[in-house]
Amino acid sequence: MSDTAFVPPDLIRSQFAQAMSDMYRTEVPLYGTLMELVAKVNADTLAADPALAAQLLRSGERERLDLERHGAIRVGTAAELAMLRRLFAVMGMHPVGYYDLSVAGVPVHSTAFRPIEADALSRNPFRVFTSLLRLELIENESLRAHAAQILARRQIFTAGALELIERHERDGGLGREQAGRFVAEALETFRWHGDATVSLASYRALSDAHKLIADVVSFHGPHINHLTPRTLDIDAAQAEMQRRGIDAKAVIEGPPRRRCPILLRQTSFKALEERVRFPGEGGAAQAGTHTARFGEIEQRGLALTPKGRALYDALLAQARDDDGAGSTGHDYDRRLAAAFATFPDDYETLRREGLGYFRYALTDAGRADPAAVADRKSVV
Ligand code: NI
Repeated sequence: MSDTAFVPPDLIRSQFAQAMSDMYRTEVPLYGTLMELVAKVNADTLAADPALAAQLLRSGERERLDLERHGAIRVGTAAELAMLRRLFAVMGMHPVGYYDLSVAGVPVHSTAFRPIEADALSRNPFRVFTSLLRLELIENESLRAHAAQILARRQIFTAGALELIERHERDGGLGREQAGRFVAEALETFRWHGDATVSLASYRALSDAHKLIADVVSFHGPHINHLTPRTLDIDAAQAEMQRRGIDAKAVIEGPPRRRCPILLRQTSFKALEERVRFPGEGGAAQAGTHTARFGEIEQRGLALTPKGRALYDALLAQARDDDGAGSTGHDYDRRLAAAFATFPDDYETLRREGLGYFRYALTDAGRADPAAVADRKSVV
């Protein structure tokens, strides 16, 4: 087979992200509501702000806006994570970054699988935040051994997915029919299963150690636990969630609302209580519930330099400390806005003071100036 017959990894990733979104919409209907709400907020925002619309068009973000999302999963063993790395590689996604969440009291460490090259990112920036359970952080020795035993028995990949991953590595790509099959087979790993693999008593013991341990260990595979679209106005999206009676978090996480958005702002609706069938010791199933899956929205802003990030951290800490409780409780929005009054809120100052990262492109004036183009071989 010639190389030209291979489907580009960017295209497989786009097909997979779409398939995952369709699946999650069926599993969690409220996610469909969220997608619809975000699409409307984005359309309204672009209509009301032509400068923003022009900026997104220039940076190539306008086209991908409705495709853009990230998801999150949790796996139980190093072998599962290693195979996931190979699975994501088929779609041009590679592990970036390391996050030790045990410092926040969560017994996992994580990375994000995503495209790396600018071209690939602009085609489809789909990324999957992936956490690996750290069994060694379960203090109770017999519970730890029990969890390890359960995880050792499961296979989270279909035989078809494994075969196609190997074929991709051997041949250097997948043809059209194989790529279609790969998307369908890979999707199975992330599907929700309403039947647990452990008894209700085991589930409760695991859950008592940490809710997240039960979520990873008790099921057939790493069900996607949220899939997050990108909004251009998270305050409007939050207000609309509340208007529709969706059980949204009280506070938007991250920086306050600004003219020039920075970093990331996120909000979500609370995890759903879902029915689960637990196998009974004697054969008869027991009914129970599990909460893990939720709906999240994000608004992305300017990436900050280390200098900008240090200022951000200091102001955030100040907002949280102002009531002496280090909390995000009473009056938090006002305190946050007050603390961030000293963070410059126009792009020119942000750029001049080296607080954020910027991309430079030649303007019409620059193109007309021979001195500006003298050392460029070609001007488009
Ligand atoms: Ni997320």
